Amino acid sequence: MIFSSISRAAAAAVLLCTVGQARPAGLMSQVKRDNALKFDFGGEKIRGVNLGGWFVLEPWITPSIFEATPDNVIDEYTLCETLGKAEAHNRLHAHWDSWIVESDFSEMAGIGLNFVRIPIGYWSVFPNDGDPYVQGAYDYLGKAIGWASNHGIKVMIDLHGVPGSQNGFDNSGQRGDVRWTQGGSVDQTKNALNKIRDDWAGHDSVAAIELVNEPMGPSLDMDTVRQFMMDAWGNLKSSNVAITFHDAFEGVNSWNDWGSGMWSLLLDTHHYEIFDSSSLQLGIDDHVSTACAFGSSMSTNNKWTISGEWTGAMTDCAKWLNGRGVGARYDGTYYYNGQGSSYIGDCAGKFTGTVAGFGEADHNNIGTFINAQIAAYEKADGWIFWTWKNEAAPEWHFQNLTAAGLVPQPFSTANGC
Ligand SMILES: *[C@@H]1O[C@H](CO)[C@@H](O)[C@H](O)[C@H]1NC(C)=O
Repeated sequence: MIFSSISRAAAAAVLLCTVGQARPAGLMSQVKRDNALKFDFGGEKIRGVNLGGWFVLEPWITPSIFEATPDNVIDEYTLCETLGKAEAHNRLHAHWDSWIVESDFSEMAGIGLNFVRIPIGYWSVFPNDGDPYVQGAYDYLGKAIGWASNHGIKVMIDLHGVPGSQNGFDNSGQRGDVRWTQGGSVDQTKNALNKIRDDWAGHDSVAAIELVNEPMGPSLDMDTVRQFMMDAWGNLKSSNVAITFHDAFEGVNSWNDWGSGMWSLLLDTHHYEIFDSSSLQLGIDDHVSTACAFGSSMSTNNKWTISGEWTGAMTDCAKWLNGRGVGARYDGTYYYNGQGSSYIGDCAGKFTGTVAGFGEADHNNIGTFINAQIAAYEKADGWIFWTWKNEAAPEWHFQNLTAAGLVPQPFSTANGC
């Protein structure tokens, strides 16, 4: 109520006066006392990376897998459909076996990371009859949890693709229409989450489970989405995990009126400044102030709030970032679903190689932007970078960005915002 009638800053001030502490009311009451969570949410900051492109393929993260297929292969669904189960099985198992290995976890621990978010598709948990997808990633998830445990890293298991696709993005498994919530898809989603709960919620290293990644609120019935969140929460509420829900693109401050009487809720918001023309036109100073203002708005929420995806990128130039064959808004080559774009700057030769290949200005600006975002998100409860590694998108490659000195070591909020 408060948030709709007065400005966000004023609302935050009202809450601060009311409760006389640094974070708004509600945070304490949401934590169930007898519920031993495995991470000090709200105390210690989450500092994590996503293991993107491992169990849910994305053409821009591993272009080599897609370059070895015809142009109609645009996501994991069409890859499996086109190659057939036997060949898809061979290629995917080779990928699962090599993309992330235990030494990645020791390296993550070595640079101070305390969390990994691991995207997985429903088809790896509970396959649907008739799907072309192949099985096996769920076993590798188990391996990953063991490695995380060996190196003292907590895991968020993130249900990244649900039946019918919750957002139409290739990273849901199937690019195109948003058909989630139709037919039995919500029940199938809850079943997958219950299996993840039964198999993994009791593990010492599994500190969080995310109900569904990026449901496309503006295209879905939000009453249905909220009901799903509440029902799925109910199924997980006796587990000792933070029950993580994405803001459904409804705005990071739009969930304060929701969730009363519920506990262990962790709000996940994703912050990118590259998927619309006006953000792409910002200079470095405006990118920094936009991120810092976003971090401030995260910190006024009455729930633990993290930026569960973000990047060092200030353009969308990485090859196939918007989908195989789609182009970039930055250089005006984007064309998708009847929407085009106009030229802002040149992508050629930029941001398509390695971190080591950045020019001096890009090196400095990307480092400044990363530093600012760490400070911004640590005003709230922390961050999980997208992504740990990839084949050819340097601004999205946390491992290499850190090695090249573009991430403060040790992690620090100094000089950030
Ligand atoms: C990351 O670093 C490795 C090892 O130096 C290198 O082979 C790879 O090309 C780099 N990738 C990017 C995107 O920077």
